[in-house]
Amino acid sequence: MKKLNGSNLVKTAVFISGSGTNLNSLIKFSYTHKSPIKIKYVISDNINANGLNIAKKFNIKNKFYDFKKNKNVEKKILGELKKNNIKFICLAGFMKILSKNFIYKFKGQIINIHPSLLPQYKGLNTHNRVIKNKEKNSGCTVHFVNSRLDSGKIILQKKVKILKKDTPKSLSRKILKEEHILYPKAILKIFSSL
Ligand code: GRF
Repeated sequence: MKKLNGSNLVKTAVFISGSGTNLNSLIKFSYTHKSPIKIKYVISDNINANGLNIAKKFNIKNKFYDFKKNKNVEKKILGELKKNNIKFICLAGFMKILSKNFIYKFKGQIINIHPSLLPQYKGLNTHNRVIKNKEKNSGCTVHFVNSRLDSGKIILQKKVKILKKDTPKSLSRKILKEEHILYPKAILKIFSSL
């Protein structure tokens, strides 16, 4: 991570695929005086992602990239990020796996939020699996992104108790609430430790 100098906020892109509630909380955080980042770009692989509407509402540059149709999509995104001087990427519910080459180009500058207590329950459908296995706790994790899925260095985690009456849906709601608090905290931690 590059050192912050003076009042220079780190130009950040957020990658999304869905509802964008983490994006919303990151944007709100970025407007506070303690934020080390400024969100300049929102990128989505889903044209119908509500997160794109959130970006529009806050007048943040946003773009949809069709990963299915476009072979050189990562190259195009990298070009766009370079053009906009983006130095930091937050993945927030982004459902595509970025290539090794892409991650290398932004080495140590991409973070992700995952709805489990990593290294447990990497991958998809975490809440279903956690409930099925009768776990007592779950939670969320913010971590650096490396070339292995959900395996980069952990920055922060928050534990959430699972009650007997919890369903995957109720657990997901509880954890999502904590994600919105944890993600900004993790960003503060990264940049304050420089
Ligand atoms: C979150 O639970 C996140 O941890 C996971 O996908 C969900 C995205 O939610 N990777 P949102 O789009 O931020 O509302």
